[in-house]
Amino acid sequence: MKIIASLMPAFFGSAAIAASISPHHVANQIAPCTFTGSTGFDLLSKRNSSCQDIILSDLEVPAGVTLNLDNLNPGTSVTFTGKTVFPFFPAGWAGPLLSISSSSQLTIRGLPSSLLYGSGESYWDGLGQNGPITKPKFFQVHNLIDSVIEGITIFNAPVQVFSINGCKNVTLSGVTVDNKAGDGDWNAGKGGRNTDAFDIGSSTEVRIEGAQVWNQDDCVAINSGTNITFRNGLCSGGHGLSIGSVGGRSDNTVQNVLFENSVIANSENASPTSIPTGARIKTKYGTTGIVSNITYHNVMLQNITKYGIVVDQSYSPPSKNAPPTNGVSITGFTLVNVTGNVLPTGTNIFVNCGDGSCKQWEWTEVDVKGGKKSSKCLRVPSGASC
Ligand SMILES: *[C@@H]1O[C@H](CO)[C@@H](O)[C@H](O)[C@H]1NC(C)=O
Ligand SMILES: *[C@@H]1O[C@H](CO)[C@@H](O)[C@H](O)[C@H]1NC(C)=O
Ligand SMILES: *[C@@H]1O[C@H](CO)[C@@H](O)[C@H](O)[C@H]1NC(C)=O
Ligand SMILES: *[C@@H]1O[C@H](CO)[C@@H](O)[C@H](O)[C@H]1NC(C)=O
Ligand SMILES: *[C@@H]1O[C@H](CO)[C@@H](O)[C@H](O)[C@H]1NC(C)=O
Ligand SMILES: *[C@@H]1O[C@H](CO)[C@@H](O)[C@H](O)[C@H]1NC(C)=O
Repeated sequence: MKIIASLMPAFFGSAAIAASISPHHVANQIAPCTFTGSTGFDLLSKRNSSCQDIILSDLEVPAGVTLNLDNLNPGTSVTFTGKTVFPFFPAGWAGPLLSISSSSQLTIRGLPSSLLYGSGESYWDGLGQNGPITKPKFFQVHNLIDSVIEGITIFNAPVQVFSINGCKNVTLSGVTVDNKAGDGDWNAGKGGRNTDAFDIGSSTEVRIEGAQVWNQDDCVAINSGTNITFRNGLCSGGHGLSIGSVGGRSDNTVQNVLFENSVIANSENASPTSIPTGARIKTKYGTTGIVSNITYHNVMLQNITKYGIVVDQSYSPPSKNAPPTNGVSITGFTLVNVTGNVLPTGTNIFVNCGDGSCKQWEWTEVDVKGGKKSSKCLRVPSGASC
């Protein structure tokens, strides 16, 4: 069952602004509106149409309900302080727990030591999105323009965390995703899974700066989009920095991506059935699309359990060992100073390209060791080595 609290869109607010002019808020001449606890949630549902400065203090969101902050007035700021609680909903639901969509010029911030608590530990069953209980996605950012999301800490996400879609010029800075408590043995029916931190689609000019992520799936997965930067980040325990899977969707272009000055570390207690990787591009078997101008610069890999660097053009094949296909081109794949280690059971580098679809690759200062050397690399373009 999916229930979404229907918060009034900004233009439909019934309560007239009753605030006196505060000398501290001369800019917009409006006092901040503070919402606290569960009564705060109820009040927020009827929020002032003109409230430009929303403070959410120890907010308690009802179980199975979206904290819906869509259609905020352009220029609104939303500040989270204390612990925002999204309780467990035993029947399961798809979420999102929080949506901040369809607006522009927003500033969304978490004050120091604030956190958004997703009650993931009550949902985790080692099965992620495929388990018997539907788990809510966390933070939906769709159709947001010219905005900043900063200092947000996500704690115990049930499944995927940020879903960034249809956005333009959005910076996420100093975001933390702490799903450490979700490390567990999937085979024993424990732990978080599919807890991707940042899923990006159909967006332009998205910058993720200084993120710190401990999770059990992709740190970043870009399915489509242009001009995306991930810089000064730490990704631990998950599947690293990924492009894809690309192909078979409505938007199949990924262009101008930069991953820079970041560390990808995979804890040794990651599930044996996961595929923790460092840098990855996967394109879907039998589909079409464009992947171009992808750069990994100054990226350190530590204790990667499966693949250090992997490019696979046969993702999700119709049968095991189906060959890679060439409908999605990967043009301009640059690695500079990508170094580190793979565990002995893993593979340093694996490249599996379709006929003529991998071009203009330039790898310099690539030094990934500790794991096995693959004997199955196919059509490695000049400029790269396997
Ligand atoms: C509207 O804003 C004023 C001033 O911040 C506040 O006193 C009042 O409770 C708000 N009303 C609602 C319904 O949030
Ligand atoms: C991008 O968004 C930021 C933050 O709102 C804003 O300051 C900047 O002017 C925007 N850039 C462009 C090109 O509009
Ligand atoms: C992406 O960045 C390039 C280079 O800075 C720029 O020329 C182009 O206009 C940008 N594209 C979009 C869609 O913002
Ligand atoms: C390639 O991407 C980089 C960012 O990594 C950008 O600065 C550059 O302008 C892009 N090149 C082209 C030709 O768009
Ligand atoms: C290479 O990248 C590492 C981070 O992985 C950084 O510490 C080092 O300074 C970089 N080397 C150069 C020559 O930029
Ligand atoms: C990598 O594994 C080695 C050997 O188990 C361990 O000593 C080291 O602390 C690990 N490094 C990281 C960053 O986890």
